[in-house]
Amino acid sequence: MLVSLREITQQAADKNCAVAGFNVFGYEDASAVIRAAEKLNAPVILMSNKDAVDYMPLEFYADLFCRLARNAKVPVCIHLDHAKSYELIARAIKAGYTSVMYDGSQLPLEENIRNTKEVVKLAKALDISVEAEIGSVGYSDPNIKIKGVYTKPEEAEIFARETGVDILAVSIGNVHRMEKQGATIQYDLLKEIQEVVPAPIVVHGSTGILDEDMKKLITYRIGKVNIGTALRMAFGSTLREEMERKPNAFDRLELLKSTIDAVEEAAYNKLKLLGF
Ligand code: G3H
Ligand code: ZN
Repeated sequence: MLVSLREITQQAADKNCAVAGFNVFGYEDASAVIRAAEKLNAPVILMSNKDAVDYMPLEFYADLFCRLARNAKVPVCIHLDHAKSYELIARAIKAGYTSVMYDGSQLPLEENIRNTKEVVKLAKALDISVEAEIGSVGYSDPNIKIKGVYTKPEEAEIFARETGVDILAVSIGNVHRMEKQGATIQYDLLKEIQEVVPAPIVVHGSTGILDEDMKKLITYRIGKVNIGTALRMAFGSTLREEMERKPNAFDRLELLKSTIDAVEEAAYNKLKLLGF
């Protein structure tokens, strides 16, 4: 069933689990994530990132993902990830997304607060959840020029209070797009932030987080954990192997089929680490 982020994080918190948000790009990975979630009876989030919506208009993702969500046996939220424009967010809400992230993390605090408040005003009126980011989660990919800056608890407190966001992404040693696990999570900083921010916390860049840290994070009232690269690697390496195994195959359906099981397994393993 299709649900909002608010409902889903509450359900997970009641079970002492954290909800996984997976970046997905099409039918194969989106249906694989839902299959994994159904095996574990876990609520789950399908997320569209900037690369996805630059590739295809978000309305097409909305139609596909919302239909998959409505047919799913578990609660599924459809979330727009890292959006930097009000217009894109308004389009996503109109198209059927049940949750949005406004990412003003690269802006000065006051501007981030001002813009986030505008998004919250629009979204709340339509019962759509809002995530925002304070501090900056950097990227391991040198082509993406976003520097990591740890979240300052005092800024997080002001930001969460003034904007009224449902859920808050923070920078605590996590890094986007790491192909190997090796991020060093700053648990003291996380605790300091949580002492002053009542909203659930989001951890981005979770592909780079060690399995033992994923398990530990659920004991810290984490609302949402974002996972992208791990699934893209499972998809890409399986497709490559399949093409090598079948050098004469050209039918996309034949080649893509194998990616579904691989993504399902990768999503299943992450969901298990998050308590499901
Ligand atoms: O917003 C998306 C995530 O933070 C994904 O991060 O690709 O490093 O797992 P990741
Ligand atoms: Zn992210």
